[in-house]
Amino acid sequence: MIKNDLKVYKKNTRKSEEIFKKSKKLHVNGVHHNIRFFEPYPFVTKASKGKFLIDVDTNKYVDFWMGHWSLIFGHSPKNVVNNTKKQLDKGWMHGTVSRNSIELSEKLSKAVPIAEKIRYVSTGTEATMYAVRLARAVTKRKIIAKIDGGWHGYSTDLLKTVNWPFEKSESSGLVDEKYILSLPYNDLGGGGCIPATKDYLTGIQEFCHNNGTLFILDEIVTGFRFKYGCLYDTMKLDPDIITLGKIVGGGFPIGVICGKSEFMNYANTSTFSKLNRAYIGGGTFSANPLTMVAGNSTLTTIKNSSNKLYRKLNNFGSNTRKMLDKKFDGDVNTTGIGSLFLTHFLNDSIYEVKNSADAAKCNIKKLHDYHFHMIAHDGIFFLPGKLGAFSDVHTKSDITDIARSTDRFLTKFKK
Ligand SMILES: Cc1ncc(COP(=O)(O)O)c(C=O)c1O
Repeated sequence: MIKNDLKVYKKNTRKSEEIFKKSKKLHVNGVHHNIRFFEPYPFVTKASKGKFLIDVDTNKYVDFWMGHWSLIFGHSPKNVVNNTKKQLDKGWMHGTVSRNSIELSEKLSKAVPIAEKIRYVSTGTEATMYAVRLARAVTKRKIIAKIDGGWHGYSTDLLKTVNWPFEKSESSGLVDEKYILSLPYNDLGGGGCIPATKDYLTGIQEFCHNNGTLFILDEIVTGFRFKYGCLYDTMKLDPDIITLGKIVGGGFPIGVICGKSEFMNYANTSTFSKLNRAYIGGGTFSANPLTMVAGNSTLTTIKNSSNKLYRKLNNFGSNTRKMLDKKFDGDVNTTGIGSLFLTHFLNDSIYEVKNSADAAKCNIKKLHDYHFHMIAHDGIFFLPGKLGAFSDVHTKSDITDIARSTDRFLTKFKK
């Protein structure tokens, strides 16, 4: 970490430091998601609005983390606030069937044609866990294959080959790792914001379909991020099951398993016996009215503005990737598509980032230093080490500010 950045950060975040000490006493490493911790301590957020996070020391940060990339319209957009407030008056936890899940599903199934049947859960982790169980129930096979570097949440079934070196187990306490195979190549997950090629995905799909294997795509990040719908149909793919999350819940807790009826129906407890069914449940907060209403408002707003919205976000992303690559003059490779971007710091052993293994070999410490520099000096927030996302509340001036902050970082970086 650059010494001066640390000094500035500590001076500006004194209350955060105190409060975080308390958090550390009460919580594991002081946080409730491992990635939210960064050195020397994360600032403590007091409020968020529009493009800003505001911490307890009243520092304001332009946010590019955007609630784990779930907030495509920024923090607290008016329509979501108004509609969820109205729902609060009607109750926020019915625990029974309600109309608003039907309204959201009508939108989803139109935008995502393979979503012939849908089940809501509360997190992406649950959705991917259930997707795997469903596939096993359909195929009566135990072994699943995932992709090196792919992140699909913390469920035991998928917690393998997420971080480099991929041969090493991600955690103690995992059982049945022998049932997970991992395939090399590129990914769209935690491995580094590297778009999968159409040929690669088509190849995997072909293999699955020729071998009676279900083809599952995790579109938890990509769903509604680049267009009103999913990425798979832009690549003319034909997945059997899809998982969604993040944006489709409008920033409220959500996970979605959806797909072709012939497979989703295995989860129907009325028609399938215990021996044959996939018991994929749901949970206390599945399809809770607030999430459904927030998701509905978000998808309605996207639909009404989708051409303009995605043109803007995708342009911002591509301009920023170009700008950063130019500024760093060959020292970085900025990956991503549409509104997502991540700057990889190259070194003697790696000249181009094509997959998660390449990303892991880059100088990750430098990336953390870079993000921390922007937080400490310029009120620009990327969760250190993670990709940035543009949302509708960002403006061109935010790109200029990233450029300026990058220039200042470069003067230290080049030394
Ligand atoms: C691609 C992908 N799948 C699944 C998940 C897990 O979702 P959640 O954090 O809601 O459990 C994430 C979370 O970032 C993700 O990026």
